[in-house]
Amino acid sequence: MTKGVSSAPTKALLSSKKVSAKKVVDKSKLEKHPLEVSASHSNQASSVPEHITVLLDEAVHALSVKAHGVYVDGTFGRGGHSKKILSQLGANGRLIAFDRDLAAVASSQSINDPRFSMIHGHFASMQARLADIGVSAVDGILLDLGISSPQIDEAERGFSFRYDAPLDMRMDQSSGQTAAEFLSRTTEQQLAEVIKNYGEERFAKSIARAIIKERDDVRPITTTGQLTQIVANTVTRFEPGQNPATRTFQALRIFVNQELEELSLTLPQCMALLKPQGRLAVISFHSLEDRIVKQFVRDQENRDDLPSNFPVRAADLPQPRLISVGKAVKPSAKEVKANPRSRSAVLRVAERTSVL
Ligand SMILES: C[S@@+](CC[C@H](N)C(=O)[O-])C[C@H]1O[C@@H](n2cnc3c(N)ncnc32)[C@H](O)[C@@H]1O
Repeated sequence: MTKGVSSAPTKALLSSKKVSAKKVVDKSKLEKHPLEVSASHSNQASSVPEHITVLLDEAVHALSVKAHGVYVDGTFGRGGHSKKILSQLGANGRLIAFDRDLAAVASSQSINDPRFSMIHGHFASMQARLADIGVSAVDGILLDLGISSPQIDEAERGFSFRYDAPLDMRMDQSSGQTAAEFLSRTTEQQLAEVIKNYGEERFAKSIARAIIKERDDVRPITTTGQLTQIVANTVTRFEPGQNPATRTFQALRIFVNQELEELSLTLPQCMALLKPQGRLAVISFHSLEDRIVKQFVRDQENRDDLPSNFPVRAADLPQPRLISVGKAVKPSAKEVKANPRSRSAVLRVAERTSVL
């Protein structure tokens, strides 16, 4: 697994807690958020959930793997992309993977390959963690954002409104505040902003009011079931077929894991790490993430907001540091059919130029 790099996860931290996973309500008739759609082969909380890698061939192809190159998989998950990258590397190639989830890190122990290293940590620490192991330049970086199927399907992780379980929602259960802890401390105004900004929920204010009222007048909000119920009692109109709690759960998850901040902090590090012709491939699962990636690539491409009719020679204009490779790639109808969770995925690819 860690080849002396990762902080080895302790047994205690990796052992899954025994939590009852009762179904909250029968929502079988409701269409689910992409990440709430059970993988076709695994829809039982009690079975060992698998992760079906999204855009596997497309993302690895986009990296244009060089046999002796150095690659980073910032989101190991269950290693689908990592294993494919390794299969394309030669004897002197190298792959360094990150994941902030201890279960993902534990699963990487199955890869017994001297070219592979696993780091337990968040990808926003990428540049510093790579520097620790003497890596300052790489040929490709992959980020497959969001959460994995095991995270959503294991009730005790608290990501899903399908099960009644403690409201955790941390990808890294060894640090940071849980969603329940956040709800115990937040103000109504801050909560409304989180639900609005990260969930794009138009009923954010009334949901926040109801949550704070329940917390202050009745009891603390500590389970996914309680939260689901409060939202269901508050939201009177919602998207047909969609669970009313979908957007609130998404918002809390993004907030608790600082997902957008992580991404914004990491993209400039990718610029610093990528060698000329090095590739960046990012798979996003919602518009908030995709917007950040798209804007970042645009900024690096143009480097300036000069009007197109500005009287200056093209050669004198600031040169791009990054160039988009092709258009955004979405999963094929066949992939979406086989893995409904892939349906909102968007892959963007860019190549580093030699401009500093
Ligand atoms: C969609 S899954 C990746 C699946 C993987 N590509 C595969 O094929 O198995 C996303 C993974 O990234 C991890 N993750 C998300 N944000 C992270 C971050 N900021 N730093 C490190 N890991 C992160 C999650 O814990 C999860 O395991």
